[in-house]
Amino acid sequence: MRKRSPLKNKRLLVGVTGSVAAYKAVELVRRLKDEEADVRVAMTSASLNFITPLSLELASGAKPLTGLWEEPLAHVNLAAWAEFFIVAPATANTLGKLANGIADDLLSAFFLAWHGRTLIAPAMNPGMYTHDAFRKNLEFLRSIGVTEIAPETGALACGAEGVGRMAGIESIIEGARSAFIPRDLEGQSILVTAGPTREPLDPVRFISNRSSGKMGFALARAAASRGAAVTLVTGPTALTPPSGIEKLIRVETAKEMMESVLKEAPSSRILVMAAAPADFTPESSSSEKIAKSGRYDLKLKATHDILLEVSRMKRRPFTVGFAAETGPLFERAQEKLRKKDLDMIIFNDVTKAGAGFDCDTNQVSIFGRDAHREDVPVMGKEELAHLLLDRIMVLLPGTNLKANK
Ligand code: CTP
Repeated sequence: MRKRSPLKNKRLLVGVTGSVAAYKAVELVRRLKDEEADVRVAMTSASLNFITPLSLELASGAKPLTGLWEEPLAHVNLAAWAEFFIVAPATANTLGKLANGIADDLLSAFFLAWHGRTLIAPAMNPGMYTHDAFRKNLEFLRSIGVTEIAPETGALACGAEGVGRMAGIESIIEGARSAFIPRDLEGQSILVTAGPTREPLDPVRFISNRSSGKMGFALARAAASRGAAVTLVTGPTALTPPSGIEKLIRVETAKEMMESVLKEAPSSRILVMAAAPADFTPESSSSEKIAKSGRYDLKLKATHDILLEVSRMKRRPFTVGFAAETGPLFERAQEKLRKKDLDMIIFNDVTKAGAGFDCDTNQVSIFGRDAHREDVPVMGKEELAHLLLDRIMVLLPGTNLKANK
């Protein structure tokens, strides 16, 4: 499987400070290494109360630096080396130093010497996180371009309940990745649909399909990371909404999905229908639970085809559909493109290994309005999302890009 990480070969300094969340830095460093980043670690002396340098040395492959006097000019040498700085976990004390130009340890001295892009993942007690003194420091750091991956709300190690638990490792990785992704979709508005729909039979039962929503969520995430204003209309899925999107609209039925798409489409430049809305819905649905009996005949009626409705709009977005087929039925996909008047269709054979529903990879072929077919090898849905956005940008009227094959 091909994998493209924007963090590959990037030189990252991870600063670990004295929070109980310090042990999570080991997993963070390990995940950054998975992305093939070149990682060095700097630890404050307070962090040594929670975690040993050995754990981080094993994770990063290099000895962590723990003090300002350990190596001559360590802060300056690191500043010449690093391309990105992540402070995770970031305590109120260290952030206070960074905001106020104090340079009494390796991390804070490095920050002053460096002037580069910085991402912080605060971890502290809710009272500290919401204190005016800390808010002032945080506001200042944001105003000079530091990115915060905000903490989560929940139960904390100190026994308190509230905001202050360090953000999840994946959110921190995502924040780092997006710093290295070109913002070439800035100014574009993209409407993405994802997931299945549920067509109710009664209050407890419904008809649905195998769509996981992964492809649509990956597209929304990729577009947002490249600067687009993203609206995601999604049927029920188990996925975490991508960070950085402008609007998330949750729907249940194909009818609700259609209403949301028709409402949002006029203000969108691009529509990508990655959802699998139901083609049929029960003719009637009961407001009470249907009692068990010997036999139950289900009568279904066709839903509206959302893309067909979009094709009838006067001013419609650049429209991309998907064609999930069970076999190499390219003609069917092309027929859908014509019938629904699409600008692009993404064909995939859901019977193939590594493609289709509830899978982290996909293998697709891309058709534009001409008969040309591009066969794309199996790849992760995240990477495929970026590739599809590249192709959309090539075909989008008014953009003059060459295919980046
Ligand atoms: N689609 C839609 N409205 C529907 C069903 C599907 O807009 N009610 C969209 C899907 O989101 C996808 C494209 O149409 O982008 C093709 O979906 P697919 O299920 O492959 O084809 P159908 O048009 O439903 O035709 P068939 O089920 O006969 O293959």
